[in-house]
Amino acid sequence: MRPSSLLFMLLQLCCLQMLLLSRPACKLPGKWVETSVHLLHELGEPFPAKCSSVKGQVRFPDSALSAASGSQCRRTLVVLYQFLQGAGAMFAEYDLPEGEGGVTWNNRKLEHYLNLQYRLVDEHPCLNTTETSGVLTAYFSNVTAVVEQQDSAPCGWEALRRDLSWVLKSSVQQHRKCFK
Ligand SMILES: *[C@@H]1O[C@H](CO)[C@@H](O)[C@H](O)[C@H]1NC(C)=O
Ligand SMILES: *[C@@H]1O[C@H](CO)[C@@H](O)[C@H](O)[C@H]1NC(C)=O
Repeated sequence: MRPSSLLFMLLQLCCLQMLLLSRPACKLPGKWVETSVHLLHELGEPFPAKCSSVKGQVRFPDSALSAASGSQCRRTLVVLYQFLQGAGAMFAEYDLPEGEGGVTWNNRKLEHYLNLQYRLVDEHPCLNTTETSGVLTAYFSNVTAVVEQQDSAPCGWEALRRDLSWVLKSSVQQHRKCFK
């Protein structure tokens, strides 16, 4: 064996080991989150005034995002992950109300957003834990109740969109270092 090929082999072994040893940090890509915020914003009109009636019922619990103890980054990412996961479940379970008075979002942008939302959840199973389980349970049961009522359904979806946009945006702005 020529010395150069031996060196080459050793280098390969070393790098392979480094790959195996370095566990990737569990972070969400900030770029995807920023693109999601942009798409949510572009989906349609701002939160409609006629939906102010659901304001008391659908309100993202801000306190969910502040770590009582431990790492603020971990807390932010896990809550964000759970929020995206819960929103994914809503989109999978319920149809958006169509027709008069329904939700009039741009379909192409919605598809793009849903694709990003799905990939953020599906490709980051390292954030799929029950560490903060329960902090969003009341929130999603309220959103579900509003979306299940025919009259209020469009406002339920608008409120979910508003909260997603706000939570994703403020997390990535306030904790940019937690994202990759
Ligand atoms: C998240 O965890 C749950 C329960 O352990 C599991 O059923 C689900 O498939 C996981 N999702 C992902 C995207 O890893
Ligand atoms: C859920 O709805 C109830 C009653 O409308 C309200 O008091 C509560 O603050 C809501 N909780 C959340 C997390 O939205």
